[in-house]
Amino acid sequence: MPRTRKSVTAIFVFFVACFVFLGFLYPASDSFRSANLQHSTDVATFRSDDRNISTNYKSTSIPRGAHAYGFTIFDNLYLRNGTLFVVSSDLSKFPPRETILSAPLELDLPPDVLMPRDEHMRFIDPEEGNDLLGSDFIYIEDTTVIVYENPTFIGGYHYYHWWGEIILGFWRVYQSARVSTPLPFPKRFLLPFVDGGKWRDDPGINGPLMRAVQPAISIETSDQWKDFYDLDRTIVFSRVAIINRPAAHRYPLSHKYNKMITSTLELHPDNAFWEPLQTTLLQNLLGLEFSFSSRRALSNDIKPVVTYISRQGGRRSLADQDHEELVHTLSELQKEGLCQLEIPKMQELSLKEQIELASKTTIMIGVHGNGLTHQLWMPSTPRSTVIEIFIPEGYLFDYEFLSRNVGHRHYAVWNDTYITTAPEKQNAPPNFQGKNIPVHGPTVAEIIRHRLAV
Ligand SMILES: *[C@@H]1O[C@H](CO)[C@@H](O)[C@H](O)[C@H]1NC(C)=O
Ligand SMILES: *[C@@H]1O[C@H](CO)[C@@H](O)[C@H](O)[C@H]1NC(C)=O
Ligand SMILES: *[C@@H]1O[C@H](CO)[C@@H](O)[C@H](O)[C@H]1NC(C)=O
Repeated sequence: MPRTRKSVTAIFVFFVACFVFLGFLYPASDSFRSANLQHSTDVATFRSDDRNISTNYKSTSIPRGAHAYGFTIFDNLYLRNGTLFVVSSDLSKFPPRETILSAPLELDLPPDVLMPRDEHMRFIDPEEGNDLLGSDFIYIEDTTVIVYENPTFIGGYHYYHWWGEIILGFWRVYQSARVSTPLPFPKRFLLPFVDGGKWRDDPGINGPLMRAVQPAISIETSDQWKDFYDLDRTIVFSRVAIINRPAAHRYPLSHKYNKMITSTLELHPDNAFWEPLQTTLLQNLLGLEFSFSSRRALSNDIKPVVTYISRQGGRRSLADQDHEELVHTLSELQKEGLCQLEIPKMQELSLKEQIELASKTTIMIGVHGNGLTHQLWMPSTPRSTVIEIFIPEGYLFDYEFLSRNVGHRHYAVWNDTYITTAPEKQNAPPNFQGKNIPVHGPTVAEIIRHRLAV
């Protein structure tokens, strides 16, 4: 190439480079403006995603009819100044307010005092919404669970009340809102009428298991609820569960059983609704390799585990000699090679060890009491069984309801007789809490043989 052409090319390249460089340093005012516009569009988009600045409300709805007395799932439920608002132009499709919640007062107050009032929940159309709620909202995304009750009447939540009622009942109703795959465990619980850590139980089971099922969970109580008042803004819960005990007890059959989860048995999400929660919790607690299906596949090679949760020395317990005879009879079954027997001293095991044992158990035996709540972590199989020992004629439905919900066969043993269908009503005779509850060991052994032959 001749020298001159080469330098002309070089000069040309130089000018192009300068032009591009200057253009970069000093962009035309037009491109400045469009960059700004781009920015403000971003902000506008962000805001309109978060709130709906118009009188066009997102209507409140109950997804897939997920409602049982005392357990209701809502999409787009509004909250202002401590009052919950259902906003819809068709209010006829909602269940009556008293089947959703109550005044958050003690359960033993007269029924009329517990009836919900406008300060607790209102049903309004979008026009009223405009007057009462304004047109400018803060959205809370994901799923929130509001345990809308005052638990002082039960002295706070025992393991049974929290896991066997609040969580089990919620989970059943919530899963009935699912479309196909199980819905994930929510990351946010709100307890507006509980102070500080008062939702926890003395043995310390409620809290850690909440982290096990959802490590990112936040559990907020009355002072956080007050923050919402102080904001003086309208909050919209994209999806929220409202749980309330007195409303659950308004369910007609609840009088018979006296259990708040009675109403939830009306919904049939899928018989296996509980297993996804069990699996998540057990994987987080025991290690990722945990799976019920691998357990089941192995079950022909490993002996079924029979766990007797002894309460000797506790408030409600077996007559000492009957306890000893029971232990002896169960040991005979183990000697025969029928099962592996576990008689744990629960108070000496760590929480993790307790849950791990429950997750391996096929048959759980115990006197009526909180320890039987551990059946929540037993796999549901054709053989899975809970044998609950009562003072003869005594009966409370607590653990039978858990068994029925999560898929175990339940037997109530009255010394040398037993029943598998619940009696007509509960019965707690004066000696119900005694330390002298009789049990005929061979009767329990007979049930075990029968169940392990399945
Ligand atoms: C705002 O309301 C309208 C009408 O109800 C609805 O179509 C739209 O999706 C809403 N927008 C947002 C961001 O919620
Ligand atoms: C907020 O709620 C309280 C208690 O229900 C009520 O006395 C008060 O009037 C309400 N304030 C507004 C602005 O609605
Ligand atoms: C329990 O049943 C056994 C076996 O039938 C019987 O011998 C015993 O007297 C019964 N105990 C009570 C307290 O009824």
